[in-house]
Amino acid sequence: MCGIVGYIGKRHALPIILDGLKRLEYRGYDSSGVAILTDDGLIVRRKKGKIKDLIEVVGHETINGTTGLGHTRWATHGKPSDENAHPHRAGDVVVIHNGIIENYTELRAMLKDRGHHFKSETDTEIIAHLIEDHIKSGEPFEQAVLASVNQLRGSFALGVLYAKNPDKLIAVREASPLVLGFGNSENIFASDMPAILPYTNKMLFMNDGTMAVITAEDVKLFDFTGSPLPVNPKQFDISPAMAEKGGYKHFMQKEIFEQPQAITDTMRDRLLFDKKEIDLKEAGIDGKIMHALKRINFVACGTSYHAGLTGKYIIEEMTGIPVDVDVASEFRYKTPLVGNETLTIAISQSGETADTLAALRLAKKHGSHVLSICNVIDSTIARESDHVLYTHAGPEISVASTKAFTAQLITIYLLAIHIGRGLGRISKQQAAVYIDTLVTIPSLLDTLLKQEDLLVSIAKEYARYSDFLYLGRGISYPVALEGALKLKEISYVHAEGYPAGEIKHGPIALVNKDMPVVFIAVKGKVYEKIKNNMEEVKARDGKIISFTNTGNNEIQNLSDSFFLLPEIDELFTPILSIVPLQLLAYHIAVINGTDVDQPKNLAKSVTVE
Ligand code: M6R
Repeated sequence: MCGIVGYIGKRHALPIILDGLKRLEYRGYDSSGVAILTDDGLIVRRKKGKIKDLIEVVGHETINGTTGLGHTRWATHGKPSDENAHPHRAGDVVVIHNGIIENYTELRAMLKDRGHHFKSETDTEIIAHLIEDHIKSGEPFEQAVLASVNQLRGSFALGVLYAKNPDKLIAVREASPLVLGFGNSENIFASDMPAILPYTNKMLFMNDGTMAVITAEDVKLFDFTGSPLPVNPKQFDISPAMAEKGGYKHFMQKEIFEQPQAITDTMRDRLLFDKKEIDLKEAGIDGKIMHALKRINFVACGTSYHAGLTGKYIIEEMTGIPVDVDVASEFRYKTPLVGNETLTIAISQSGETADTLAALRLAKKHGSHVLSICNVIDSTIARESDHVLYTHAGPEISVASTKAFTAQLITIYLLAIHIGRGLGRISKQQAAVYIDTLVTIPSLLDTLLKQEDLLVSIAKEYARYSDFLYLGRGISYPVALEGALKLKEISYVHAEGYPAGEIKHGPIALVNKDMPVVFIAVKGKVYEKIKNNMEEVKARDGKIISFTNTGNNEIQNLSDSFFLLPEIDELFTPILSIVPLQLLAYHIAVINGTDVDQPKNLAKSVTVE
């Protein structure tokens, strides 16, 4: 939620900051702004709308300077407008902010009493005034920032510029992500790596409760008491091209097509094909923990939650251990029934989702072992977990999560086989069969992706409908939920996922000729049952789109449109059946002309509660 960028060095700051904002636009895109320190003083420009609207404004001006800040906003306090866009300014102090200041009303009242005037409705503007107030009381820049952050309650990643101290920028992190990039006589910081990658691979993920004082030549870190901290950046093996569109129309499409590679990368070095073994020592679930395990519980949000729901079927089947799955925003306010016989698995692409982080912390506080499945290396959730299994899906830029989901599923299969083997619930022969199945998945996906045209024609036929039902049974039920989520979030078409067996308890009342019903009808335990559900829909004139296997003639005959999935053990079907659903949602959104990568009201990384 909101992207921030700061640059100080030897080059013109404006193009670097605008480029960084474009790369972070997935984090928020309702308004944006820049502040550049020039020879003629501080220039601040802000604009409601996308970054391109800001570029139109600054494109008509000459703004030369080698130090600056930029921000792309996802509104929390105050509607999207030029006035509420960041940076916010108080005298010579300029601030950009990602997060929420919970005590801003009282601070605003206190500052008003001290003579400050506010121009926006945001919580952020008070930070600029607070810092200015401390400077006016005679405190040096760094001290003023430190004193101010100690008065703030909430979550914040800040970039601060003080025109009277032009040789430095200050970055602060408390519960909102911030990455420092170390260049050659230039330094840059941002909410996420893609803004930094074109300039340097040497980076440091700031910890909560830390402040960085950044000059062109140097970075110093402090805690909130002002005590110095060690500065240990790492070299990251990611190229800027990995965060670019590479010829695809949208990041979402590119990321859907990257899934065979993402899955291969996630299995690499963990799936030992020759030995028919899984090596997952990095999960830290040794024999002692495994044998004591009474429950596993997943906590996650959105698509990652759907991976957890699918994981329940996989882990229960492969290990016999009971699994709970909680939406993190619910779990964090429950009395958590976890302890040292529980393994809590936090799933998060970004590793920064505020609710998932809070759920993880709560589980940890109650003595649970905590493992996370994250895509972003060194993210907060990864760092706060006892152990982490990274999904090596590469940067996921599109707001709609696709390759992260299938990489999460692969990780769960590996983990389930690892635990199942450790507990003796999966024989060596059975493990070998599972491993043989896993290695076929990337090529099956390749075959499936080659049939994109078929999904384009299905999308053309159904794009005009305004309500969809997605139905699945057993392990295909979470797939139905995820398919529906994909459609609604990028095309703004109402779509509901439901267990197919439940429709007669309510949703069937909605079925008529204007209601396309998407069935995930793969061969397996409940195949006959789902066929009955299709008959029920057909009898009420519902339009049926089915995702099924070859040879299922009855299902094909019942369907108005169908897409054939390759055959695979039922337990592994979600990883195949979700992919055409992602493409269907994508093409419906493209036909309807929505902004696929940046759907309205959403942000990639939800770092506020
Ligand atoms: O980064 P996370 O996996 O923790 O994000 C969780 C959700 O915010 C995310 O999956 C969201 O639902 C996506 N927009 C789904 O496409």
